[in-house]
Amino acid sequence: MSEPADQPQQMHHIQPAQLKSFVQQILIANGTSPSDAEIVAKCLVAADLRGVDTHGSNRIPSYMERIRQKALDPAATPTVLQVTPAVAQVDAHNGFGFVAAHEGMKRAIEMAQIFGIGMVSVKHSNHFGMSAWLVQQALESDMMSLVFTNSSPALPVWGGKEKLMGVSPIACGAPSGNERRPFILDMAPSIAARGKIYKALRRGEKIPTDWALDGEGRQTDDPASALEGVMLPMGGPKGSALSIMMDVFSGVLSGSAFAGGVTNPYDPSKPADVGHFLVAIKPDLFMTIEEFKGRMDYLYQRVVESDKMAGVDQIYFPGEIEMITEERRLVDGIPFAEAEIASLNKEADLANIEHLKIRSPIL
Ligand SMILES: NC(=O)c1ccc[n+]([C@@H]2O[C@H](COP(=O)([O-])OP(=O)(O)OC[C@H]3O[C@@H](n4cnc5c(N)ncnc54)[C@H](O)[C@@H]3O)[C@@H](O)[C@H]2O)c1
Repeated sequence: MSEPADQPQQMHHIQPAQLKSFVQQILIANGTSPSDAEIVAKCLVAADLRGVDTHGSNRIPSYMERIRQKALDPAATPTVLQVTPAVAQVDAHNGFGFVAAHEGMKRAIEMAQIFGIGMVSVKHSNHFGMSAWLVQQALESDMMSLVFTNSSPALPVWGGKEKLMGVSPIACGAPSGNERRPFILDMAPSIAARGKIYKALRRGEKIPTDWALDGEGRQTDDPASALEGVMLPMGGPKGSALSIMMDVFSGVLSGSAFAGGVTNPYDPSKPADVGHFLVAIKPDLFMTIEEFKGRMDYLYQRVVESDKMAGVDQIYFPGEIEMITEERRLVDGIPFAEAEIASLNKEADLANIEHLKIRSPIL
């Protein structure tokens, strides 16, 4: 990843439909089938819309580099092995994580529709970006879900100083009566996003000493030293245990790499061998779907109307802030920095397609 610029960059809005079509064309030009390109582009733009800018279309250059270096096969077709009536295994054959996980969740939903629950393990996969798009896929079929993945080493285990576990997100969801306000939890087990350390470095600010360790395994308030070291898990040993849990369910169980063996998505030298674990659950197993959704709506109201602590204006349900961002970005477009647009347009040049058109800058 490139270092951030010293000066804040001019931002421009891109319309989601234009962005999706642009991403699709780059993917197709790099050997992805039109139907798989549709899936990958939809997932990346879903992250951009939800404000998860770290896992959206900006990842395209690194993914394309992996294809060019033959570390990822854009034409791989995932295969599915039915293990029991409610359990399947997907082999991604080193194709896009988006495509294999999409197929896995589709199978999990189909099984849950018949048996109440469907569980899918995915092996030999790649980075699938923002986990919430899989939760959204399940929600489109009125399903609850669990979405786990492992990832490349970034966190030490509690008490350690070497990068061993991934900042592997834990996601889950449940539908509600108001389809714009479902429950969507999607969280990485680290205290702070690495992007916050880059921001502190750019602004010459200190960081809290519990965010990261320096290269020598010492706590630090200096962002530059922190970037040479490791991220720290949230909640001390509990965050560390959650990242190990992601490795147990996604890596050990699936047959994919684990215990520090997954390759960083920015390292195009070899296949990533990521594993995922996906579960779909029918919410109307013990009551009607209307009753379930009514109870979810009641839970939502109780949460957001809860008495607020001093200094808090509004309480949000998990996933709600991202939903509000999505509603805004569907109208206004998705903000991109000039350097990000330039990097995407470099891929457009390589793919021989038209550049992204930018509207007026955001003032
Ligand atoms: N595929 C991978 O290997 C990988 C690795 C790391 C992260 N990620 C992705 O990065 C993204 C960012 O993860 P993160 O941990 O930084 O997310 P985050 O800290 O922004 O949010 C975590 C969760 O907390 C909720 N939340 C945040 N602020 C809230 C508030 N004020 N009130 C109520 N709820 C609130 C969010 O809705 C979300 O469900 C996720 O989409 C994740 O899937 C992917």
